[in-house]
Amino acid sequence: MDRATELNLIDELLNLKADKSAFLDEAVARNDVEHYLSEERFQQERDRIFRKRPLVAAHASEMANAGDFLRREVAGQPVLLTRDRSGKVHAFLNVCRHRGTRLVDEEAGCRHRFACPYHAWTYSNEGQLIAAPHFEAGFGEIDKAELSLKALTCIERFGFIWVVCDGASEREIDAHFEPVSEDLAALHMDEMVVVHQDVAIRRANWKILVEGGIEAYHFKIAHRTTIGPHFEDNLSSYQKMGAHIRSVLPRTSMAKLTEDTRETWRLRDHAQVLYTLFPNAALLVQQDHIAWINQEAISAGETRVRLSTLIPKSEAHRTDHWKRNHKITSVTLEEDFVIGESIQESIASGANSHMLFGKFEGALHVFNQIVEGALAPEESLPE
Ligand code: FES
Ligand SMILES: [Fe+2]
Repeated sequence: MDRATELNLIDELLNLKADKSAFLDEAVARNDVEHYLSEERFQQERDRIFRKRPLVAAHASEMANAGDFLRREVAGQPVLLTRDRSGKVHAFLNVCRHRGTRLVDEEAGCRHRFACPYHAWTYSNEGQLIAAPHFEAGFGEIDKAELSLKALTCIERFGFIWVVCDGASEREIDAHFEPVSEDLAALHMDEMVVVHQDVAIRRANWKILVEGGIEAYHFKIAHRTTIGPHFEDNLSSYQKMGAHIRSVLPRTSMAKLTEDTRETWRLRDHAQVLYTLFPNAALLVQQDHIAWINQEAISAGETRVRLSTLIPKSEAHRTDHWKRNHKITSVTLEEDFVIGESIQESIASGANSHMLFGKFEGALHVFNQIVEGALAPEESLPE
């Protein structure tokens, strides 16, 4: 973001604080609980959103060298990510083209070729079938070039590896990122590394987990023994940026900024800046690092959460510091996720027909409107 925007965001929150007010939408909003419970709805989200939008599959530092590979699930698809000799990244369906065996079982490693465990059809890390025993005798009339691994659109941008399952043009991908590209570029995440990562399956709809991060109404209650004391009560702002949302959650230290000259004001020292990158990645920008939270939807009621601490490469030696910070993030998010699981279980009772979003929970309403818009059949990428 440019300097004027940074100062405006600080001014806006300082003014609200001075007025003892909150950042308010016009009206209370509602969201049907079926949107979190229905498997049919989840299938629509998978087909129309997750399969069509660029999804973060990994951070580039997780496969930094030629030959590195990772196995991931993207929008329910088994994906093999590779980095070839030239440094280019590829995404393939991790499925042998002969009779469909899972080609690679390991989660990660470094290899330039992959042999299928069934009959040893062997593929390069650029996807070509390069060897197959008795191929001429058994499959002579088929051109090997037709038997390359199925490739998915894969790009490296802002330090992350993004995959689009159903394919998308360069123009569509650019348009998806355009509203946040300046902000993301300024974070220099291509010069960062993942220093810690936890993966867990949570029994909650992915949207409940996203919603848990974009309001400050719960801070003083759900996080009272962790981060709660360091943040303002029920004060946060948000800006819709295309299909994405930037939320600003001020620390109590922001109020003291008025004692300093404006030239020294730095937003990320006094607020958590949270980017909700549509549909399912969150970047929680902290003073000296970034927590990256990937919400990988498995079913209506299950989500794989990948929590990573991203740090500047040059600061990697501060091992205890990063360990401590990762722990703080994971303990805090655990509080959110346990509540998310409680919501998922409870709303199935039918007690409430809708979620209620107060006027200071406007980001949640906007997020659900973006989901709704992207589900419309005529909607093409981007929002
Ligand atoms: S299924 Fe892979 S080589 Fe036969
Ligand atoms: Fe929270």
